[in-house]
Amino acid sequence: MKGQIIKFLKEHSGYVSGEEVSRTLGITRAAVWKRINSLKKQGYQIEAAPSKGYKLLNQPDMPIPEEVRAVFQGDIIGKEIIFYKVTTSTNDRVMEIGRDAAEGTVVVADSQEHGRGRFGREWLSPPNANLYFTVLLKPPFPPKDASVITLMTAVSVVSAIRECSGLNAVIKWPNDIIIKGRKAGGILTEMKADMDRIEFIAVGIGINVNMPLSRFPAHLKHLATSLKADKKGAVNRVELLGNVLAKFEHWYKAVLNGRREDLIKEWVRLDSTIGKKVSVKISDRVISGIAEGVNNTGELILRLPSGVKEIVNAGEVTILKSKK
Ligand code: BTN
Repeated sequence: MKGQIIKFLKEHSGYVSGEEVSRTLGITRAAVWKRINSLKKQGYQIEAAPSKGYKLLNQPDMPIPEEVRAVFQGDIIGKEIIFYKVTTSTNDRVMEIGRDAAEGTVVVADSQEHGRGRFGREWLSPPNANLYFTVLLKPPFPPKDASVITLMTAVSVVSAIRECSGLNAVIKWPNDIIIKGRKAGGILTEMKADMDRIEFIAVGIGINVNMPLSRFPAHLKHLATSLKADKKGAVNRVELLGNVLAKFEHWYKAVLNGRREDLIKEWVRLDSTIGKKVSVKISDRVISGIAEGVNNTGELILRLPSGVKEIVNAGEVTILKSKK
């Protein structure tokens, strides 16, 4: 209902009377008043003039369901969007509801108290700045194929960033989002599965959108960046989220329809790892070689100095030098 009021106010550039809103939406004027107040609390600036009615002056760039739906409506992804002003971690929320919630449910937060990165690291999650969201998937394939989900997520995020900001974002295998050599986003994929069936996957995505560089702690300053810092201007969070979800739906359908080759082609086009000399940290082992490509489940094909090919399905890559 709040969504309908916003839509109505957006469609009218001038004032609309409480009477008109109440008649069109079939609710009492008192109910309109109550909902307008709750919208104001969410950050919408709405003028209420006694004789003229309501006028939308400004809307927040807050990834609430009503706003996200105005820019993206999917068949699978985002049919259910759950928003938290603050939560521990959107991945935690999806891991809790994963069994019963519908596939495609998106949990998004304005800030996280315990944002988590890969390898147990912390993910910086202050309010009013970035995007933190997790998508619930229930793909009908075995756990050994799950890395394809990370590939399609990285492709979706990088292409959405390119489209919304014009920045030349690239992927570092498997799931770092890099701009000018620094990390602007990451993906944390968690899964509940038995040996041969995935029950559900929580695909957590964090993008440093409008965070100023000065807010990064000293140890991250030379490693991390945000879109705003590189673009030298703010990027609309709602538009970016809608764009990521649209790409995500496109590539998920492609994967479900057996079009993995198309995805791999797109991944290679957006990747910065292939053809480079890299080292990969796998648990407490580090191996080096030339990154030759990815196979169709998303594993990295590494050519060791001995000539032996090693297939890596998880690890942390450091690019050593360009071979291209
Ligand atoms: C990485 O280490 O690169 C992965 C970072 C993933 C961060 C996102 S933010 C939304 C979701 N919730 C979390 O706690 N983590 C992921």
